[in-house]
Amino acid sequence: MEIIVLKNKKEVGEKAATIIIEAIKNKPSLVLGLASGSTVLPLYENLISGYNEGKINFSKVSTFNLDEYFLYEDDKISLSRFMEENLFKKINLKEEEIHFLDGEEENSLLACKSYEKSIKKHGGIDLQVLGIGWNGHIAFNEPGSTLNSRTRKVKLSETTIKDNIKFFHSSKFLPKYALTMGIGTILEAKKIILLATGKHKAKAVYNSIRKNPDKRTPASFLQRHKNVVFILDKDASEKL
Ligand code: GLP
Repeated sequence: MEIIVLKNKKEVGEKAATIIIEAIKNKPSLVLGLASGSTVLPLYENLISGYNEGKINFSKVSTFNLDEYFLYEDDKISLSRFMEENLFKKINLKEEEIHFLDGEEENSLLACKSYEKSIKKHGGIDLQVLGIGWNGHIAFNEPGSTLNSRTRKVKLSETTIKDNIKFFHSSKFLPKYALTMGIGTILEAKKIILLATGKHKAKAVYNSIRKNPDKRTPASFLQRHKNVVFILDKDASEKL
């Protein structure tokens, strides 16, 4: 496990963008796993400016997002909409190469199975971007998720629902369930970068890196991966 500590979230975003730009240079048809959340926004801003400056071309890249709300009803709160607004509509990814778990499919088993199949058909994820919840969750794998968990429907914890309220344009309907790649699914990515910024993430970061892998902190299972990089700002690293 590699740990990079930088000054602030701006530098974390720049570093992660540099890694992605390099990876696409080496493999233009990169299969890129993406995350939603506020931590990754500086990264997406850097990818957009890199694209505008001609440093990066997404025309052959495929993306797979980690998770999606289940039966979200109102499109405004979907994570696909979040990605569309904050990245996809501003770069030249092919629409058919943007992959999302189908949160509108009532048969969640079917949606999850076909997602895993699609990842396999693309040859697996080359580079997976992750954030981390302050309770140590990755994607929507809440504490209690197991090492071998696969893509599935999950119940969100009250704290995760509350944390994500900031993204909702409408406060009427807050999804209680989501579809998420499992920990086992995530660990199959060839390389993983996890971004964490802010003091409120310091404990989760500490538990993920310094404690033995344990399902109370799902991100701690990343210790089992051979090629994982934690990119932290000073605040998120303060307990290490
Ligand atoms: C959500 C997402 C996670 C993300 C987490 C952290 O729960 N499903 O993938 O890592 O939020 O969000 P933030 O970056 O806003 O702290």
